[in-house]
Amino acid sequence: MDLYRRAPGTGLRYLGHAGFVAEHQGVRLLMDPWFYPAFLHSWFPYPDNRHLLDVVTSGRFDYLYVSHAHEDHYDERLLRMLDRSITVIVPRYRSRIMVKRFAALGFADVVALGHKESHELAPGFTVTMYLDTSHKEDSGLLLDLDGYRFLDLNDCNTPMSELPGDVDLLAAQYSGAMWYPNCYDYPPEVMRKKVEAVRGDLLDTLYRKVRITGAAAYLPSAGPACFLDPVLEAYNDREATIFPQWEDVADRFAEACPGVEVLRLFPGDVVRLDDQPGGTLVERDSDAPPAEDLAAYRERRRDEWGAFYDEPAEPVTIEEIEAYFAKLQSWNKRFLGDFAKDVRLVADGRMWDVRLGHLAEHFVIEGEEPYDPEYTLLLCPRTMRAVIEERTGWEEALLSMRVGLHREPDVFDLTFMSLLRYGNQPVQTMQMLRERQNTETIERDGLRMQRFCPHAGEDLTHAVICDGVVECPRHHWKWDATTGECVDGGTLPLRVEPLT
Ligand code: FES
Repeated sequence: MDLYRRAPGTGLRYLGHAGFVAEHQGVRLLMDPWFYPAFLHSWFPYPDNRHLLDVVTSGRFDYLYVSHAHEDHYDERLLRMLDRSITVIVPRYRSRIMVKRFAALGFADVVALGHKESHELAPGFTVTMYLDTSHKEDSGLLLDLDGYRFLDLNDCNTPMSELPGDVDLLAAQYSGAMWYPNCYDYPPEVMRKKVEAVRGDLLDTLYRKVRITGAAAYLPSAGPACFLDPVLEAYNDREATIFPQWEDVADRFAEACPGVEVLRLFPGDVVRLDDQPGGTLVERDSDAPPAEDLAAYRERRRDEWGAFYDEPAEPVTIEEIEAYFAKLQSWNKRFLGDFAKDVRLVADGRMWDVRLGHLAEHFVIEGEEPYDPEYTLLLCPRTMRAVIEERTGWEEALLSMRVGLHREPDVFDLTFMSLLRYGNQPVQTMQMLRERQNTETIERDGLRMQRFCPHAGEDLTHAVICDGVVECPRHHWKWDATTGECVDGGTLPLRVEPLT
C-alpha cells in the first residue's frame, strides 16, 4: 500500500500525534513517527494510529526527521524497524544526544542542523531547523515546498523572536504534555483553577505562535496522548486535566484567531498541496478505524501497557539511593552551587529523606521523619527502581504520570526540578548556569530589563507589560515591573530598572 492513493505529488500525510510524511518532488520525508507506548508504558498515540504501522515500516523514505529525544517523538522500537539507508535529519543539540542515538542505531547518514540552518532535500524542497535556543533540547522544522511553507513546531518553544514568518500551515501543540498540575495532590477546587490556568496559558501561547508566524492555517497536533493502563485512567478525563481534545478548545481558538483555517486531521488523512491553486484539499483515510473507543483500545494493547508490570519491582536500598543522588549531585556541582533542599521519596510504604546539597553528609535517612520535606515524590517500586537503575530519567518518570507530588510551600523550585529533569545531561544544567549569567538587556515601555526569561530563556522582547506587571509570553510567569519580584509562577526575580 502506498502512502497516497493518487499519483505522488506534493502533500502531507498525518500519522497521528506529531508524525507526518511530507512528499514533494518525488522525495519523502518521515517526521516524528510514534507508534509504541512511551514513558514507562504509559502514553499511547490518540487516536490509535496502528493501522499505519505497516505503511511506515514498509514504505520508502528518503529522509527522516526526529525533533527531540522524548519517547513520543523518538520511538526507538519503531526506529529499529526502519531502513538504515534513510538520511536522518536531527537538531544539533549541545548534548549531541540525537546524533549519538542514531549512530548507535546504525544510521550512517545523519545530518545535524543548528538553529536556522537549512538543508536541500531536492530542488524546491528545503528544510530549516528551529531550536528552542534555551537549555531545553526541542526543535521544530520549517519545510519549504516550492514556496509553500509548512512549520512543524510540535511541542517546541522556539523563542517568539526567532520564529519564521509567512507560514502557510502551522502544526503545533494545543494540549498539555506535562505532569503539573495533575500529578500534585491539590484539593479539588485548587486543582480546577490550576488546570484552567494552564489550559489558558497553552492556548495563549498558541495564539501568539499563530500571529507571529502569520500562519494562514493551523493543524492541531502533538497531543493529547491517552493512558491505557487502568491505574492512569483519570488522566484521560478531558475536562479535569490539561489534556483537552481539539473540540474542547476549538471555539476559543476561532474567537482568538479569526480567519485562520483549521485543518483537523486524523491519523492517515492527507493534505494535498499539488493540484489546489491557492488552497488545500484534505483526503480522509478510508482505512482509519471508526471513532476511538478507549475500552477497546485498552484491550487491544493489553500486552503493551501490561509490560510495565513485568519490570523489576524489588524495593530499592538505602545504599542505592545514596549512590544515585551522590552521582547526580556530583555531575551538577557547579549548577547546584550552595543549593540545599530536603525532599522525601515514598514507595510501597517506605520512605527516604534526602538532603540535597549536603554531599559530604550521610544524607539519606530511612524510615524516620526528622525533616519537613519541601518536596515529596510518591512512586511505586517499579518506577523507583527504573529511575535509580537509570533505565529511565526523572523527566520520563514524571511524564509517565506515575509519580505523585506534594510541595510545601506550593512554589515551583527551578533548581530542584531542573536537577531531576536535566541532571543526567549536565550539559543542559551548565547551559542554565550560562543563561542565569547572561547580562543582555532590552528596553521596553520605560524599562530596561534582562532579555531572556529567568525560567526557561524565552525572549522577553515579546513580553506583555501592563499595569506594572511584566508577563513572559511562554509559561506566563509574572514580575513586578518596579522591583522585579516574581509575583506568579516561580521564585526567580527579573532584573529590571526604570529607564532614566
Ligand atoms: S520561559 Fe517559562 S515563564 Fe518565561
